Amino acid sequence: PYPLYEDIRRRGLVRSSLGPWVTASHATAETVLRDRRFSSSPVHQRGYQPPSFPLGDPRAELPAGDLLTLDPPDHTRIRRLVSGAFTPRAIAGLEPWIRERAVRLLDQADARGPEFNLIDAFAFPLPIAVICHLLGVPAEDQDKFRAWGHDVVTTLEPQTSRAARHHSQASEIALAGYLRDLVAKRRSDPDDSLLSALIAVEEEGDSLTSAELVSTALLLLVAGFETTVNLIGNGTVALLGERAQWDRLCKEPELISGAIEELLRYDSPVQMTSRTATEDLEVDGTVIRKGIPVIVSIGGANRDPAIFAEPGRLMVDRPEAARHLSFSLGIHHCLGAALARLEGRIAIEELTSRFPGLAMAGTPVRRPLLVLRGFETVPVRAAA
Ligand code: HEM
Repeated sequence: PYPLYEDIRRRGLVRSSLGPWVTASHATAETVLRDRRFSSSPVHQRGYQPPSFPLGDPRAELPAGDLLTLDPPDHTRIRRLVSGAFTPRAIAGLEPWIRERAVRLLDQADARGPEFNLIDAFAFPLPIAVICHLLGVPAEDQDKFRAWGHDVVTTLEPQTSRAARHHSQASEIALAGYLRDLVAKRRSDPDDSLLSALIAVEEEGDSLTSAELVSTALLLLVAGFETTVNLIGNGTVALLGERAQWDRLCKEPELISGAIEELLRYDSPVQMTSRTATEDLEVDGTVIRKGIPVIVSIGGANRDPAIFAEPGRLMVDRPEAARHLSFSLGIHHCLGAALARLEGRIAIEELTSRFPGLAMAGTPVRRPLLVLRGFETVPVRAAA
């Protein structure tokens, strides 16, 4: 998509044929993401129709929005409560567990033979195991989660077929029903999971309702693994495509933490987000009418030459890499950024230290999605 982004960036804020404005400029993206007159909620879009659910559908009991789509003050309230349980300390404490799991997955891949699909063997199972562990989802249900999560993300796509939408709705219903039962179970039988911590969080007499807990757990699950899989997959493909960069990380593992920022920038797992103008307003000399969305191309902003020198080059020690917008900005800045960085670092550390001779064993195949950018298959050959 990168030549297209360049073209959009050169033309400034552009109006797409579908109606919304699009920006691929880092500065404009930053303005839009930080301006509170732009909302993440679809409610403000011109012609918005609220969804209607049939009787008995567990989604009918969910709040009208989740963290990603709520506006203040609802967003502020839920974000504060969730952050009370999802603390940096709780996340840092997960490192040994994540590393052990990563090593075990690579053991299994190694035992199966020298060639394997990096996505199926490692990039996918690692984040899903982490988020299920965090939420206290039993191991035997993880395959179900993987399938449901896969289906649910297609709803993020601007254009999906009716059949795909139908299928993803069925999965969303199943996932919401499952989480509703899990929340009820944990209310009466708490464990040491994040879900139990979320149930227990209380601030000034306020706490999350059961419906808010289900909606938050649903978001954490989907946001938590469908993105991180792409950080690991896209990152490994990028590094193997620039062998010298991979070799450098094998020799200087202390660079990996910074390299994760460059991998997030270079081939961003989330390519775009959008905001809707809640009033007529002007951005960079362009008037944006109330109710019209602006699509922020995160991938485009991450390759803006005004910020990143030679943006098409992968440089694991790029000093300005952390200025990427891959986790967005402003009030919706990714709540799981620290966890995603931790998982990405452990994944690349374990891959480089165990298989410094890792090589592509075929052509990787992309998933046909626009918002989430990643691979379905990444055939690799492992060599120590
Ligand atoms: C929000 C990206 C991993 C949970 C976001 C947003 C982006 C993003 C771009 C904001 C969208 C917007 O502004 O409209 C990513 C990427 C990840 C990742 C690239 C991995 C490489 C995670 C993980 C979790 C998580 C591991 C949790 C376990 C969330 C939540 C929000 C969010 C809850 C909503 C925050 C809010 O609106 O207040 N993420 N994410 N993400 N992410 Fe992530």
